[in-house]
Amino acid sequence: MADLDSALDAAAATVAAADALLIGAGAGFGVDSGLPDFRGDQGFWKAYPPLGRLGIHFEEMANPLWFERDPALAWGFYGHRLNLYRRTRPHEGFHILWRWGKAKPGGFRVFTSNVDGHFQAAGFRGNVVECHGSIHHLQCCGCCTPAIWNAGDLELDVDEETFRAAPPLPSCPQCGGLARPNVLMFGDWGWIPARTHEQEDDFRAWLAALGRRRLAVVECGAGSAVPTVRWQCEQAASLPGARLVRINPREPHGPAGTISLALGARDALSAMDARMSGSHGSRVSS
Ligand SMILES: NC(=O)c1ccc[n+]([C@@H]2O[C@H](COP(=O)([O-])OP(=O)(O)OC[C@H]3O[C@@H](n4cnc5c(N)ncnc54)[C@H](O)[C@@H]3O)[C@@H](O)[C@H]2O)c1
Repeated sequence: MADLDSALDAAAATVAAADALLIGAGAGFGVDSGLPDFRGDQGFWKAYPPLGRLGIHFEEMANPLWFERDPALAWGFYGHRLNLYRRTRPHEGFHILWRWGKAKPGGFRVFTSNVDGHFQAAGFRGNVVECHGSIHHLQCCGCCTPAIWNAGDLELDVDEETFRAAPPLPSCPQCGGLARPNVLMFGDWGWIPARTHEQEDDFRAWLAALGRRRLAVVECGAGSAVPTVRWQCEQAASLPGARLVRINPREPHGPAGTISLALGARDALSAMDARMSGSHGSRVSS
């Protein structure tokens, strides 16, 4: 417990002293908002019992082949997630990070593999890299056009028993063919990366312009199975003067110099925030 308290002190001091902030986020960051991560088959099937009954794994379901083989099931999966992400409110941790980021003279960026759009819903704009795309944007399955368009108020009617979406399924405004989410799936050669590439260009320019400014990297809920976010945060933290705070209740460890917080994201960020604002009284008790 003393270790956790001193790690929280060190994490708060790192963020307070930094000139700029990089926020990394994986599926675990949404858990405190009530969203499922896809931790192993059991976690995935608990979130999606109909797919458990069919014995379909996350890596199998998040595959563009379903849009060819069984579009109603493909849109059942993505439509269910779109509906869920829309009706779920981002937790307090998002707002804490926004406040910290806004106060930094060198600014802040978010690098996330989440496709749920929750950073934007929490007020983040123009400073988010969605490295696996966004479920709130669509593209043509046939790639008749390189366009990506906003899903707008698209609603899918998904049967909770069969997990199939009722027609009409989303279609391409150009050719009328089937549309799909602009999300990077497994074995996905058809994903149109243009939107993500623009975000990445801005991110790289921001990192390069930091110079000798001190960077705090706060990574929340990024798993090691698809390690893109962990890798990006470690890379950024290897810059001179940078430091990584890794928040993850099960996989908090990192390279030498990492401040590891084995806590849920909302609790860890609130505890750090209390220390930074001087209102920290009681010690963390979990
Ligand atoms: N909300 C979303 O957009 C969403 C949800 C599920 C999966 N995905 C996709 O799934 C892929 C796998 O992502 P991943 O590796 O981040 O997921 P993962 O499910 O493999 O890992 C989640 C991580 O979060 C940690 N975690 C669990 N509860 C937490 C909490 N309360 N606070 C902080 N951390 C917590 C777990 O220990 C784990 O390390 C990604 O490509 C992602 O795009 C996205």
